[in-house]
Amino acid sequence: MANASGILTPTIKISSSIGINRSGFCSPKSVSVSERVCCSRTSQESRVPRLISKGCKLVGCGSAVPNNQFSNDDLAKIVDTSDEWISSRTGIRNRRIVTGKENLTGLAVEAAQKALEMAEVKADEVDLILFCSSTPDDLFGGAPEVQKILGCKRNPPAFDIRAACSGFLLGLVSASCHIRGGGFKNVLVIGADCVTRYVDWTDKKTCVLFGDAAGAILVQACDSEEDGLFGFDLHTDGSGSRYLNAGIKHSETSFALGSNGSDLGFSPSDTSISHIQMNGQEVFRFVVKAVPESITTSLTNAGLRLSDIDWLLLHQANQRIIDHVATKLEFPMDRVISNLANYGNTSAASIPLALDEAVRSGKVKEGQTIMTAGFGAGLTWGSAIVRWG
Ligand code: ACO
Repeated sequence: MANASGILTPTIKISSSIGINRSGFCSPKSVSVSERVCCSRTSQESRVPRLISKGCKLVGCGSAVPNNQFSNDDLAKIVDTSDEWISSRTGIRNRRIVTGKENLTGLAVEAAQKALEMAEVKADEVDLILFCSSTPDDLFGGAPEVQKILGCKRNPPAFDIRAACSGFLLGLVSASCHIRGGGFKNVLVIGADCVTRYVDWTDKKTCVLFGDAAGAILVQACDSEEDGLFGFDLHTDGSGSRYLNAGIKHSETSFALGSNGSDLGFSPSDTSISHIQMNGQEVFRFVVKAVPESITTSLTNAGLRLSDIDWLLLHQANQRIIDHVATKLEFPMDRVISNLANYGNTSAASIPLALDEAVRSGKVKEGQTIMTAGFGAGLTWGSAIVRWG
């Protein structure tokens, strides 16, 4: 079983025919094709997932943003801030905000459709949807509605992953685990958030940071020789949740009677979510220490060096964080992907949104290697090394 660093623990015997490398993945170098346990999943075969040795690759991407643009100057009209303060402290100049009839589901579906189109995969061929979001349109999860609108008629499993700004990274690694160990072929990973729904628009410390968006990646099974997820490293430290959270708020309702007028014996609670609370300086301190360490661990797990990486793509929270991490790693700034000036911090959407723009603009090319890292509420953080295409 893989631990948080993507390394298989020696206590569990997988199969003597499967070679496991330090990244926790089946090593294409140590296992010949004939030795691998394969799962080709033809219609005659059982659909029960089995342990297999497959690779996975990223074959399609897409993104969607709301129409409404809200600039730093617009913000300066509602809170005591300025374009100069926001752009110099964060690098953010604009953000998109869901308004009117727009909703998160619509953005997620649009992003997913674009990813499927690029991958040339039909909605009916999707085996699993991982909807990475902390702000779904439905408390019980946004994935089923996305699945329905996409038109996945075979009823593939579709469920939410709730891990704030690290959500997409966890979805990506989960997709690879489902493919490698579960026999799934086409896994749609969607990162989507409307964090602005939970922002206090009178709090200048937080309302300037966030925007809404969705991004999606189609992760597809392939031969282990073509494998495009080289290593990863994931962590959570629940003791840090005091620095960044949006907790539940309880207030007693007056409905203490049942429908026949009898006393319920308790006061039902009327529950809502409080606004985002953040200690920015503590989050900043944690990120610039934890993220470079995680990147170094992923490199070790993958047996790669930083010079093997073509692009650095961090969660788009703050340009100062991105610059700080790149400088600490001595990674060239011209190979750092950043689009947060236009969108702000879009939480789980930020990595696939930035990747989609970089791929469609021709910046990231097929076969190139990307070091990606997520971090956020939880506190959660981690990194993964992937190849595009
Ligand atoms: N406009 C003008 N002034 C402001 C603003 C604003 N929008 N916000 C704060 N200030 C003021 C403060 O009131 C304070 O003034 P004072 O010195 O007179 O008291 C001063 O600016 C400094 O405030 P700090 O909070 O210390 O500002 P800091 O330099 O730390 O920058 C920031 C704040 C941008 C939030 C930074 O701490 C940061 O980026 N932290 C990381 C946040 C992050 O990355 N979150 C990611 C995870 S999000 C998720 O997972 C959902």
